[in-house]
Amino acid sequence: MTQPAAQPAAIAHDPARWRKRFPILANTTYLVTHSLGAMPDTVHEKLKLFTDQWASRGVRAWAEGWWDAPVSVGNLLGRIMNAPPNSVVMHQNVSVIQGLVASALDFSGRRNKVVYTEHNFPTNMYVWEGFKQHGAKIHVVKSPDGIGVPTEALLEAIDEETLIVPISHVFFRTSFMQDAAAICERAREVGALVLLDTYQSLGCVPVDVQALGVDMVCGGSVKWLCGGPGAGYLYVRPDLLPKLTPKITGWAAHAAPFAFELGAQRYAGDVRRMLHGSPAVPSLYAASAGYEVILDVGVAAIRAHSTMLTEWLRGEVSSRGFRVTSPPDVRQRAGTLTVALAPDEHGPAFVAALEARGILVDHRPEAGIRVSPHFYTEQQELAAFADALTELRRTKKWQDFVQQKKAY
Ligand SMILES: Cc1ncc(COP(=O)(O)O)c(C=O)c1O
Repeated sequence: MTQPAAQPAAIAHDPARWRKRFPILANTTYLVTHSLGAMPDTVHEKLKLFTDQWASRGVRAWAEGWWDAPVSVGNLLGRIMNAPPNSVVMHQNVSVIQGLVASALDFSGRRNKVVYTEHNFPTNMYVWEGFKQHGAKIHVVKSPDGIGVPTEALLEAIDEETLIVPISHVFFRTSFMQDAAAICERAREVGALVLLDTYQSLGCVPVDVQALGVDMVCGGSVKWLCGGPGAGYLYVRPDLLPKLTPKITGWAAHAAPFAFELGAQRYAGDVRRMLHGSPAVPSLYAASAGYEVILDVGVAAIRAHSTMLTEWLRGEVSSRGFRVTSPPDVRQRAGTLTVALAPDEHGPAFVAALEARGILVDHRPEAGIRVSPHFYTEQQELAAFADALTELRRTKKWQDFVQQKKAY
């Protein structure tokens, strides 16, 4: 007898094998990876290595791994997206990276259009809006249903006047996944650049930068990569690199930083030209623990497990009368499922009431409660969430929590 598509993956991937590596899973139902991935136990060792180096090696530590960390850690992370060696550098976060890339562009000509959707993560909009005063013309593609954006509408907006498409691969509110291949292909046809923000996909959904032929990819490690804060990444297509001269720059991007040359920047010939100042070493060490786990589990297995669980949950909450605001088609959905509440129900109060029951999720206006299983999630945890949600709606006990203000 043929098995339904999701079954074999569920058997092949066993979350129990990984759970003991994530301390928080011992005492919470952790369904909030879209916001902050659970910490792998090896982060302790990585941070101890950093403090040991500082304590015992002192200034020599710079030459023994610290200075190179943005590239060496970038190389480790690069394996998750099939990036060639030395094509990824680490930064603090996506906001800095967007600014840095924008500062490498010239908006003074006819090709000055910046195209993204109204579901782009806000920080990415703020940066590009700021470049309007330098000639950027922003074109925002609207969402007809509040969930996604038709690929054709986006492709139509990318034309000969488009300079760059700095776009979220997966929408943070609804988990709608854009057709990155089609976007890159269209951009190539008209000579526009793509800066793909894979914050909500890398580590959960397969991303292959070489297969996509994408120009640049950025993101952070806080969520699906289980790498914690302070470790943003930027991939640049190697043949594009020499053309980029960011004005947001610094001595780490210099061809010979320790020559301390005065005057104008002389950019490094390799990916280091996309750096600026001294690296945030502890964050990069901590993040490498997350990348190692993701590489060990394998993104294909993660994706199969994730789609099996989000499909299960979608059926479960729908049958209990909840409306799901993530795309119903699993091919257009990444790792999060969003569940709408009724207009008279209070999202943050539900989140607080669930937290009081040991279940961690969050809420976003216009989407609902966001729930994210990852490779360490068991189906019974989603069942516990569905039960608690139903109970809260029926008993209205969420009303006891309306005064609690949580921001995460
Ligand atoms: C798609 C996306 N981009 C960027 C960010 C965060 O940007 P930053 O790294 O500047 O904090 C998030 C955080 O939720 C996100 O979901």
